[in-house]
Amino acid sequence: MHSIKKAICSKLPCLISIRLYSGPKPAAAAAKKPSDPRKVFKIYRFGGILSNEKPTLKSYDLDINTCGRMVLDALIKIKDMDPTLVFRRSCREGICGSCAINLQGQNCLACITAIPSDKVITIHPIPHMYVIRDLVVDMTHFFDVYNSLRPYLIRNNSGALGKFQYAQSEKDNSKLVGLYECVLCSCCATACPSYWWNGRRFMGPASLLHAYRWIIDSRDEESEQRLFELRDDFKAFRCHTIYNCTLACPKGLHPALAIAKLKRLISGLDKKPLPEMDPMKFASGSLSGCK
Ligand code: SF4
Ligand code: SF4
Ligand code: FES
Repeated sequence: MHSIKKAICSKLPCLISIRLYSGPKPAAAAAKKPSDPRKVFKIYRFGGILSNEKPTLKSYDLDINTCGRMVLDALIKIKDMDPTLVFRRSCREGICGSCAINLQGQNCLACITAIPSDKVITIHPIPHMYVIRDLVVDMTHFFDVYNSLRPYLIRNNSGALGKFQYAQSEKDNSKLVGLYECVLCSCCATACPSYWWNGRRFMGPASLLHAYRWIIDSRDEESEQRLFELRDDFKAFRCHTIYNCTLACPKGLHPALAIAKLKRLISGLDKKPLPEMDPMKFASGSLSGCK
């Protein structure tokens, strides 16, 4: 970790001050340290681009003994005190990806991040996104780019849809581990300097991780076309392997590694291996051999 930190800092000496994300803090570790339960939450407030207001940081005093241990619990408690505060959340389990925020300068999912032990806790929207209101940002471009990848299985001969499963060996299936778990929270993309600078042309780490996920899937028959569409100076190759994306991912994924492997496929240095198992193995309708 120390060497990565050193490498990042030496690459960007004067442009930005980077605070590396050290992962969600386990609640148990936070609980060990006795700290004053009364905290000051400084939360970014903004009425949106249609309002004439300037963004401000509004302070809320909160006794965290009156809410759960996660940052989302504190936000919900604060919303009880001030119903005008706006933020996104849904699952509170780190699955929907909607509660991404910037906490003490680091991106995270509010629902799976323990309330820090600091006395003053600052919460901003995730960086470099248009703010709709308070902590809610406009994700339109992020999802437009994701959708442009056609993020689903494509087959030339799909057979009778829904009548049988496409076969995949365990080994081929294991290649998707570390990719399919992405919840599209955009913590990685909005921590990526290349995405800040070239966000309209560079696809960003989340979309590229998904591009790799579909290209490497042994059942997908669109891989060549997908790779062809990525042959561009910006779409994938504006990744400079800075690693902020990996450090920011609250799900512990490694988008930078996926992008590195993807670049090798795009440039023809690596080839997608042939499937170990015929995906149409069960097309006859028989599920024999299905584990
Ligand atoms: S490794 Fe690539 S995608 Fe990740 S932060 Fe760096 S430039 Fe962005
Ligand atoms: S790779 Fe991680 S940080 Fe990026 S969108 Fe997926 S879950 Fe979020
Ligand atoms: S509320 Fe769903 S990931 Fe946090």
